[in-house]
Amino acid sequence: MKLKNLINFDEQQQVFHLHNGNISYILGIDEGGVLSHLYFGPRIKNYHGQLKNPRKDRGFSDNLPEAQERTFSLDFVLQEYSSQGDGDFRNPAAIIRQANGSYSARFVYKDYKISFGKPQLDGLPAAYVIKKNEAQTLKIILEDQVNQLELILIYTIYQDYDVIARSVELINKSDKSVHIEKLASMQLDLPAGKKQQVISLPGAHANERQLQREDINAGTKVFESRRGTTSHQMNNFIAICDSQTDEFQGNIIGLSFVYSGNHKEEIEKDQYGATRILVGINNEQFDWEVKSQQTFQTPEVLMTYSAQGMNKMSDNLHRLMRERVARGKYKFAPRPILVNNWEATFMDFDENKLKPIVDEAKKLGIEMFVLDDGWFGHRDDDNTSLGDWKVFARKFPQGLKRFVDYIHANGLKFGLWFEPEMISIDSELYQQHPDYMLKVPGSKPSPSRNQYVLDMGRQEVRDNIYNQMTAILDSCQIDYVKWDMNRHLTDIYSPVLPANCQGEVLHRYVLGLYQMLEKITTEYPDILWEGCSGGGGRFDAGFLYYMPQSWTSDNTDAVARIKIQYGTSIAYPISSMTAHVSASPNQQTGRLTSMKTRGEVAMSGVLGYELDLTKLSSVDKKEVQAQIAFYKKIRSLVQYGKFIRLISPYDNNRCAWMFVSDDKNEAIVFSFKIMSEAQPAFEILKLSGLDADKTYKNLDTGAVIGGDELMNTGFYEPITQADFSSQVYHFKALAG
Ligand code: DGJ
Repeated sequence: MKLKNLINFDEQQQVFHLHNGNISYILGIDEGGVLSHLYFGPRIKNYHGQLKNPRKDRGFSDNLPEAQERTFSLDFVLQEYSSQGDGDFRNPAAIIRQANGSYSARFVYKDYKISFGKPQLDGLPAAYVIKKNEAQTLKIILEDQVNQLELILIYTIYQDYDVIARSVELINKSDKSVHIEKLASMQLDLPAGKKQQVISLPGAHANERQLQREDINAGTKVFESRRGTTSHQMNNFIAICDSQTDEFQGNIIGLSFVYSGNHKEEIEKDQYGATRILVGINNEQFDWEVKSQQTFQTPEVLMTYSAQGMNKMSDNLHRLMRERVARGKYKFAPRPILVNNWEATFMDFDENKLKPIVDEAKKLGIEMFVLDDGWFGHRDDDNTSLGDWKVFARKFPQGLKRFVDYIHANGLKFGLWFEPEMISIDSELYQQHPDYMLKVPGSKPSPSRNQYVLDMGRQEVRDNIYNQMTAILDSCQIDYVKWDMNRHLTDIYSPVLPANCQGEVLHRYVLGLYQMLEKITTEYPDILWEGCSGGGGRFDAGFLYYMPQSWTSDNTDAVARIKIQYGTSIAYPISSMTAHVSASPNQQTGRLTSMKTRGEVAMSGVLGYELDLTKLSSVDKKEVQAQIAFYKKIRSLVQYGKFIRLISPYDNNRCAWMFVSDDKNEAIVFSFKIMSEAQPAFEILKLSGLDADKTYKNLDTGAVIGGDELMNTGFYEPITQADFSSQVYHFKALAG
């Protein structure tokens, strides 16, 4: 097959043009070897080089040392990557402490390389290619001649995804060490123009990824985590859009950081109205020594562009994450419907209490039983046993295998919870290795949930946990693992690093974690791995590379979940979003909701149950059974179909979203009305993403209706007289 060129270099114009059928990204070599940004947007067929960085002699804008005129200044040129001390006074992408103590660096163009495919990043998660010809990679080598440093800007453009993956590598070619104090994974300088807004996903524990949108004004706006992980508090995704952009129209750029540690997203509107965007590892508590001849590779950012609003931007990311970030057996496989015992029993269980839940699960059609926290050490509460991954004999007197065999004999799969990165003081691990936890010599570490964090940057620490975990995984058939993490990182210090490298601890933690995840997930390829951090505290594209799904939130309240799942869907695919039906009143909010609404919110993700099934009334049992049977019919559509947001719960007393099959022959729509009203408006629901020329049948009412009608005239929704009601509409196209 002929390789299709996705990247051109125009020798005459000195311009690089990355393009596929829909998008173009253009950058050029400007005066003095400065690499300037020219364009990111809809596909340009043939770039004729009209867009040159304008020149002007501006006050207080200094010039390049070799400049003949006073009109070119890094103070205002749109750059591809910036550093410090060279006259660009905006937020720098790189801060490097040189061997002589100076912070100045001047990177200028040296060379480039274009190749088919996409290089994987050593030790880091990243989007990948399946076939070499589906993407092309441009490496631009910049050089700081004085300090003998090379900076390689890496861009990969896919042919069939409107995504460009970017990262940066620093090579120290000098004979002395330098220290990186900041090295962003990407910079994007956007020209002044229309009023722009930034979309972000802030939140809290049990309230993750709440959609936020605000104007970009002069000055710097920072979104970040300094908690050691992605965090519930601020997800590592942002989008930049025109103020008129909505779900269906308008320009929007989405940026997803493929990393699970501290992150920083900076948006700076400068003095002349241009906007600089930087995404990368948070530079706070970061200081990385690059020895002579060594390199440092940043994590990757996935950068997408849509001219058709937010839904298209999300779809671009959903497809890429599903198809070129997630890996393993479950990448496209139907995810089993599970029951998890956490909200059913918390840690107060033994096998006799759990078996009736298993029996009931089988009757209801559930496919997997997940044993959550409390099965190991002597853990009856959260004060103990993290780090001791041995079965709690009092709870499982006949061993775990007997219990697991019981579950398999009932035709269910078995899943198990671990929290591998943690240690309790009350544990054998702490008795043997008190130095394994993060703590600063001479001071007392801070507990959180009465637990402490292991120094995952250390091989011997990882080996210890790995050996304990694999002993359990080898002892019986375990089909699923939930990898939890229930606190953030404090007391940042590692005894194995010298004083001048303590700024490496946080990133080494993430690299160590990734190393362990890579090893264990490839050695146990049949296990379905689910990420979790007290709910959705580590919901990011980096973790999705190792684990195709993640627990979305500890908040299982259906009404709260509508906003959480809506916000999460902005950046992450539905196949990654687990959602469970729990008891009512809800344990986190005390809210009462119907089984129907709880089911339909959870069915909009990867469905599971998390309640004591034996306590359900016979009416509820019937309803759950019907939900499960129905979900099995729509599962592949929900998990792998195209997801479209129709009505936002952030601006309305209602919410609606839908899923459409690739061939547009099937669609399922979920619509939620939050609060009941005495005099409600007559509300029309209009669908999207269907084939206007096809005729569809509503499978519940039998009504026949055109795709054009469903999308344009829409239909009136029923008026409900209850809070938190929900509706499902299921359509199939008629043949012919
Ligand atoms: C936090 C998780 O999000 C919950 O689902 C549960 O596994 C608990 N941890 C157990 O400690």
